[in-house]
Amino acid sequence: MTRSVPQALLDAPLARGHGRGPGSLQRQLHDRLKQAILGAHLAPGSRLPGSRALADALGISRNTVTAVYDLLAAEGYLLPDRQGTRVAALTRPARAAAPRGTGPRAAPAVPAVTARRLSPIQSEPAQADGDAAWRPGVPALAQFPLAEWQRALDRAMRSAGPSTLGYGNPLGEPALRHAIAGHLGVARGVRCDAAQVVVTEGAMEALALCARLLTNPGDTAWVEDPGYRGARTAMHAADLRIVPMRVDAEGLCVRDSDWTARPPRLVYATPSHQYPTGAVMSAARRLELIANAQRHGAWIIEDDYDSEFRHAGEPIGAMQGLVAQAPVLYVGTFSKTMFPSLRLGFLVLPDALAARLQAPLAHLLRGGHRHEQLALARFIEGGAFGRHLGRMRRLYRQRQAALREALSRHLRVPHAIDGGHCGLHLTVRLPRRYPDAAIAAAALRHGMAPAALSSFALQPSADDNGLVLGYGNTPAERFEALVKRLSQLARAAA
Ligand SMILES: Cc1ncc(COP(=O)(O)O)c(C=O)c1O
Repeated sequence: MTRSVPQALLDAPLARGHGRGPGSLQRQLHDRLKQAILGAHLAPGSRLPGSRALADALGISRNTVTAVYDLLAAEGYLLPDRQGTRVAALTRPARAAAPRGTGPRAAPAVPAVTARRLSPIQSEPAQADGDAAWRPGVPALAQFPLAEWQRALDRAMRSAGPSTLGYGNPLGEPALRHAIAGHLGVARGVRCDAAQVVVTEGAMEALALCARLLTNPGDTAWVEDPGYRGARTAMHAADLRIVPMRVDAEGLCVRDSDWTARPPRLVYATPSHQYPTGAVMSAARRLELIANAQRHGAWIIEDDYDSEFRHAGEPIGAMQGLVAQAPVLYVGTFSKTMFPSLRLGFLVLPDALAARLQAPLAHLLRGGHRHEQLALARFIEGGAFGRHLGRMRRLYRQRQAALREALSRHLRVPHAIDGGHCGLHLTVRLPRRYPDAAIAAAALRHGMAPAALSSFALQPSADDNGLVLGYGNTPAERFEALVKRLSQLARAAA
């Protein structure tokens, strides 16, 4: 019996001359049949014409039709049986309600529900281009010794055999873990060996790992307020209950009663250079925090993101090294000491945790970026890293001094400068009548990207008003003009 060819398949002739590519006759016919089935123009259970009849109707070869029927049958759209070919019964997705006038090709509906834990993550203001002045946290990109790094990469590529193209150790290249442990012992007083070091994709992955490995949903995490937004994001994403803890001139403030009223599982802190206020946590507070964490079964995450660049006073060692067996997970990054797109950082696990976390880490991580890791290990061991740090320390010290000078001469609004013992930024506090968010938004339109201090606070106080000025990637020659412009914008915003 010959079945008539449904009109849905004859609407337009097939375009010829496209060979075997995406526009081939076979592909066109396949798409046409599939759309007719999905669009219910061919009813479930209905029979299709024989391959010869359809080939004749469309003026194409029978082989083409047979190949398309076979493919659609393999995909489950058609059911061949002894009498011919039937359309399969499929559950069709509900159609998205198309906004008026958009026609049938409206974007497919996105499920309305995303994880509830993502809702507290604040949206960031639009970013100016990467080189915008004053952007906090960016090192002097133009000063990075690219040629030397290129040679280290080339050497790593040449000397590592084909096996280096495999995943590698999930916890990082042994050579890099060894180099990091050695460097941290000398430069930061961190007590660790290579087995405790996990190489991560920047500090951000290290923070996310701490939250995933050490907490259960609903556990409490203390975070500095104001504090690093990335840490809060990692805690939110792990479904933790975030408790903002105020920060003063001695860093994170904790009262004894907090340990009983809101006992934390995790405490996030930047003791060597509080981000963004620049406070240094006093030795008394460090010891107290460690003792209380030990007593209450909490873990401290010490984010030591930029203290390699010490500008004033005695070097302050890491909290991790202050007390043997301290319940501290030490987090670091090469985003400031090398460059951010390298995306390499590290986590130093307490000895007691290193063995226990070995197996989960080996399942969570995949290694990779092995040539960069090997090159970085040589960069550190061969002295190039230390030389670069020395040069950058001098450069940032000069830039900070020049910025202080420019602020004192050209910022014509009352202000107070916080921090500056180390790192790449200064925090300039302003009276409330100069609203920091409005000034930062106006600055963005002039190619400047200072951050509003209030944007780092979960519960902003009157004090949390000011601008965080990153001087790492802004040359000192520009400071005078830039500070004059900021001053105008601040006065205009008042
Ligand atoms: C406080 C703090 N921690 C960590 C980082 C570095 O994160 P990552 O290594 O993921 O680039 C930054 C970067 O700006 C930071 O400000």
